Amino acid sequence: MSSYNELAESYDEGRFWEYDDPAHRIPTLAHVLRLKEKDVLLDVGCGTGYYLDLLMQRTGCRGIGVDPSEPMLRIARRRNSGLDARVGFAEKLPVPNGVIDALLCHHAAHHFADVPQFLREGNRVLAYGGRIALITVSHKQMQCHPLYQYFPELLSIDVRRIPDVDVLSSWMSEIGFTQIEVQVVDRSSIQLSWDRVFDYITRKFMSPMRLLTEAHFEAGRFAFEERVRASGLAACPVESYSITNGVAEHLRSES
Ligand SMILES: C[S@@+](CC[C@H](N)C(=O)[O-])C[C@H]1O[C@@H](n2cnc3c(N)ncnc32)[C@H](O)[C@@H]1O
Repeated sequence: MSSYNELAESYDEGRFWEYDDPAHRIPTLAHVLRLKEKDVLLDVGCGTGYYLDLLMQRTGCRGIGVDPSEPMLRIARRRNSGLDARVGFAEKLPVPNGVIDALLCHHAAHHFADVPQFLREGNRVLAYGGRIALITVSHKQMQCHPLYQYFPELLSIDVRRIPDVDVLSSWMSEIGFTQIEVQVVDRSSIQLSWDRVFDYITRKFMSPMRLLTEAHFEAGRFAFEERVRASGLAACPVESYSITNGVAEHLRSES
């Protein structure tokens, strides 16, 4: 988490490496969360509030963001002064029972120490009929990420720390969520300049890169540079790279 304190000011730059337009998933998120005006949307692990702000603007919902990193939340407050940014952890949400209409967790659950406890907390804070959307990447999708060829240790790190979508779905079901669906929320096809890719790697924007040993990181960076020299290509060969995300959605059962 402390790395997010250090990364906060540049965090949003990394987002534009991965997606040609990171905002294009907003209509789908609004749809799966069935957001409407005045709904209370809780974003757990909201970071700099990028998605929360866009969803508030699009739907007129009210937004609460929870994140342990104060520097990330400072940027969220700067981005949208109407956003209620609270320091806290997913495993002990600083929110009363049953007051949330929709809960978003966008690429953050793999950082939580106890994901089932987060889901229990989600169930506690959601109102009857509340919706939850967990945005993650499936293990199958991870195999397609081009950087894993050069940093093979990243794949084993991510497989260990990111629960696969069927595991998330079965935890949700055990906790009492119903109508769970897994679906793709976004596909992106991008063509990148080598400079952008080098910048992304050197600045370790992909968070598991910060977990690699320096030796593994340098070996991967070297392999990547060798590939560039050998290829003589002008752009990174990831133009057909598609990013797809699983969503588990539920309606909280009446208790
Ligand atoms: C990859 S970032 C995603 C941020 C944001 N959801 C987005 O997509 O732009 C992960 C976020 O999870 C937060 N985080 C880490 N551990 C957490 C925890 N136990 N509870 C809530 N958030 C946590 C980090 O501080 C960071 O802001």
